[in-house]
Amino acid sequence: MHPSTRTSSLWRPWTPITQQAGSLRIVEALGNRVRDVEGNWYLDGISGVLNASCGHGHPRLIEAATRQLQQLVHYDPMVSSHDPAETLAARLAELLPGDLNETVLLNSGSEATEAALRIALQYWRNIGEHRDRVITFEAAYHGTTFLSQQLSKLPFTVSEWTPPFPIEHVALPAAPRELRTEEGADALIAAFARALEAGPPAAAVMVEPLLGLGGCVVLPAGFLARLRELCDRHGALLILDEVFCGFGRTGRMFGFEHEGITPDLVTLSKGISGGYVPLAAVTVTSRIKETFVREPVAQGLRYGHTTGGHAVASAVGNTVLDVMADEKLVENAAAQGNALLEGLRKLGTNPLITDVRGLGLVVAIEADTPESAAAIAEASARAGVMTRAERGVIRIAPPLTLTDDDTAEAVAKISGAVDVALARR
Ligand SMILES: Cc1ncc(COP(=O)(O)O)c(C=O)c1O
Repeated sequence: MHPSTRTSSLWRPWTPITQQAGSLRIVEALGNRVRDVEGNWYLDGISGVLNASCGHGHPRLIEAATRQLQQLVHYDPMVSSHDPAETLAARLAELLPGDLNETVLLNSGSEATEAALRIALQYWRNIGEHRDRVITFEAAYHGTTFLSQQLSKLPFTVSEWTPPFPIEHVALPAAPRELRTEEGADALIAAFARALEAGPPAAAVMVEPLLGLGGCVVLPAGFLARLRELCDRHGALLILDEVFCGFGRTGRMFGFEHEGITPDLVTLSKGISGGYVPLAAVTVTSRIKETFVREPVAQGLRYGHTTGGHAVASAVGNTVLDVMADEKLVENAAAQGNALLEGLRKLGTNPLITDVRGLGLVVAIEADTPESAAAIAEASARAGVMTRAERGVIRIAPPLTLTDDDTAEAVAKISGAVDVALARR
């Protein structure tokens, strides 16, 4: 966008090396806006890394981090507990339904996936059943570590190495826009039923409430509730990946609340710290944790990181929950999300656009080609709204602090960007 010839020693992930030189450089962020090195301000339509749910530079989050840095940065979790982590785990137990009461704190969504799978597979060993088959979506994205990449068959994560246990990937039976019909929902649940019935009993089914990196696919209403029933019928654990959807993103505190279900394990990250510090969690039911009390796993969970449950991160996480409640961010995400989707839905008649979908403050505009999507995202950034184009889909997931004026600006500028891309064609 703002080319420069400067070279860099920094190797940025997920970005072609040939595109790294001369790319955009963001130097400042405040509220719902970010500024680049050239002095241009943008409405942040992607919340930093889809995680700045409370907006940027929030004084209460900065104050919480500063206060905790001054008091206690962190302490060895094998030697001592500390208040910020204890409080966060207790508050998550309050927020989450059923007996989802037991939380392991980590640093990233991928680590939460790792921990969730270790716990789920070990659970079956603990109760004396040998189950290790895991079922996911082909278009899932559960993270970037060696193991979590195996849970996806997206072209950019596909692994050349053999997974350590059998993984079954379920393909979407129809295009995203066709899934939102009754037939689409039936076909999708039938595909999961077949995966559960074929082969040895499954240990777990792991899904996102909305397929984020897999094309921002809004799953049909009722799907998660029917999946919960299927898992119960087959005795499989249901792991919900709320890394992207959790903490208000979809207009509810957690994505699975739209369906009134309770998973057995839930992974959390991104919005949990508003993106201010690395933080993630996996919360499991007490029924699962109780099986770790007995031998041979009486030493507990054999998984953890030096900075897992970091005191500063936990203190920020606790204040995120306060900010979300005080500023009514979940309600705002639902209201602004509806307005954004309604405003952008009109693009559905544009020849470049094949679908406009969304849930809460996640809106996806599907273009006819990846090139069209890239052209629209670029025109949108030039107009002052940051979005993210991935394989033909433009994703918009602004901070949950979006105002009416911001929403109107996003609709006008993104619509204008589609016109610009069409005119250039
Ligand atoms: C649904 C989902 N799960 C897991 C992850 C991995 O999280 P992280 O990048 O923090 O490892 C992501 C990241 O985008 C995600 O969107």
